[in-house]
Amino acid sequence: NTLWLIVPAAGQGKRMGATKPKQYLALGEQPILAHTLSRLYAAFPTAHLVLCLDNDDCWFSSAWVPFANWQRVSGGAERMDSVLNALKSITAQQDDVVIVHDVARPCVTSADLLALLHAANEHPSGALLAMPVADTMKRANAEQLSTATESRDGLWHALTPQGFRYALLRQALEHAVDHQRVVTDEASAVEALGEAPRLVSGRRDNLKITHPDDLALAAAIMASQAAQGSG
Ligand code: CTP
Ligand code: MG
Repeated sequence: NTLWLIVPAAGQGKRMGATKPKQYLALGEQPILAHTLSRLYAAFPTAHLVLCLDNDDCWFSSAWVPFANWQRVSGGAERMDSVLNALKSITAQQDDVVIVHDVARPCVTSADLLALLHAANEHPSGALLAMPVADTMKRANAEQLSTATESRDGLWHALTPQGFRYALLRQALEHAVDHQRVVTDEASAVEALGEAPRLVSGRRDNLKITHPDDLALAAAIMASQAAQGSG
């Protein structure tokens, strides 16, 4: 079976507020997009990559794509539309595993990628990288006053990658579109079908670059991973 990798990279990076989308900002010598693709390639060299890019994207270069098998597809209005476009444009078998990974997470390690693939193969409802919530969780009212403390028990942060069988993921995203539900990750769409994806405990340094100060943090994470040999 083919392993499919979908990398949604059609976002505008509004919270970053830079002059170009955040995936094209440099981290050391390379743009974030090139780092993310090389991490994915190190773990899955024979996978087929589907890259979702905005139609007006004038920054992308195919020189940053290490995969032999790859294609680009148009992004959609929301992340889920970009991923659904990718699913519609590939000739996958129903039981092929599809792994979706945010372009904005260049610090993901090979060990976490392989653990996620293993879980996605094992679990019919799929799997996602995640980490248990560490902070005390507050419930706020409309005036931003803390009215209660929520239990952390059973609460996790959802990360990417997330992996599912092609048929399940496509059904889940089409269901979300049909019901006009915007979901920010694949697992939420799958949960809405009554499925329960497996949470795979991932590294805390799998940062999603979102705000300007995340760039320095990501650079520090990469330096530390290189020193430990854990990229
Ligand atoms: N993404 C996408 N298509 C969209 C929106 C987002 O492919 N219509 C991608 C982004 O490129 C990113 C991932 O989905 O890899 C997660 O989105 P996010 O971190 O929110 O990135 P942006 O939407 O670019 O940032 P912002 O929300 O700050 O504008
Ligand atoms: Mg966004």
